[in-house]
Amino acid sequence: MAGLPSQLTAQEKLADAGQQVFASNCAGCHGADGHGGERAPNLATVRSVISKSDDDLESIVKKGLPGLGMPPFAYLGDDKVKSVVAYLRVLQGKTTATPVTGNSTAGRALFFGKAQCSNCHMVRGSGGFMASDLSVYGDGQASSAIQHAVVTHAPSPTSRGVKVTTKSGEKILGALRAEDNFAVTLLSPDGSFHTYDRAKVAAIQYTSESLLPKDYASRLSPTELDDLASFLITTAAQASATEKPAKRRQR
Ligand code: HEC
Ligand code: HEC
Repeated sequence: MAGLPSQLTAQEKLADAGQQVFASNCAGCHGADGHGGERAPNLATVRSVISKSDDDLESIVKKGLPGLGMPPFAYLGDDKVKSVVAYLRVLQGKTTATPVTGNSTAGRALFFGKAQCSNCHMVRGSGGFMASDLSVYGDGQASSAIQHAVVTHAPSPTSRGVKVTTKSGEKILGALRAEDNFAVTLLSPDGSFHTYDRAKVAAIQYTSESLLPKDYASRLSPTELDDLASFLITTAAQASATEKPAKRRQR
């Protein structure tokens, strides 16, 4: 960690101290660079870890994960625990805030208005249930990567659109949430779960493609896409700074 000490922010100093703590207490299991070792998982590039708040990470480090092989480190004391979490953020590449080039207020208006993202996606408790909650999606993401995701809207293995036609002729469109030999459960756009007995189902069509809007490159201008990405980045930063992210979906 080169650099003039006088130019280090408090956060950088903390992370600097955390590097030693990590090397002597964590690297043996999680790997020298935090990318995982034989005895413990990757902490650096896994979204479920990156999107956790500092408080949550500190709590995991202090209490450990009993029964799962992660020992408790409360004995290190609060300062060292805080410092090692600050260093985890360095390993995760989150030391410098993602530069936001667009107007996030305009992006918010687009999300809930003209671009209709909130018909399907939720952000911090408002919006639809059909697709993933984007409250923390922008965390650590570059604007260009978010814009790419929006214009391509590729299907995700965890969110399959499905159309169920029952023997009585009812047709329901939703996101597949569970499926076995006896029943199929889907989440409809209004947020309610529906479970159908397979014996009463006439047809199940997997329509993941049809739930994916593919026309944003033509519907939105480059400035609008930049504004939307800025909104998602800003929202995620606020979520991790102020509260636990609302997690509606297991990933
Ligand atoms: C003895 C090996 C071991 C050591 C030492 C260790 N860990 Fe872990 N850690 C684990 C294992 C195993 C898991 C995964 C538990 C599970 O979820 O199955 C884990 C999980 C975690 C998680 C949660 C990851 C997630 O997916 O949410 C964090 C954060 C973490 N460790 C941080 C640390 C830090 C920081 C240190 C050093 C202070 C440390 N660990 C030291 C074994 C270790
Ligand atoms: C008709 C429903 C619908 C609309 C409208 C919609 N999306 Fe999506 N979106 C989806 C589905 C379905 C997926 C794929 C899987 C998932 O994330 O649930 C997805 C995926 C995404 C992803 C990738 C998520 C991930 O975890 O990989 C982003 C980012 C995204 N949408 C942003 C937006 C934005 C921004 C808008 C508005 C401009 C928007 N979406 C409008 C349905 C929609």
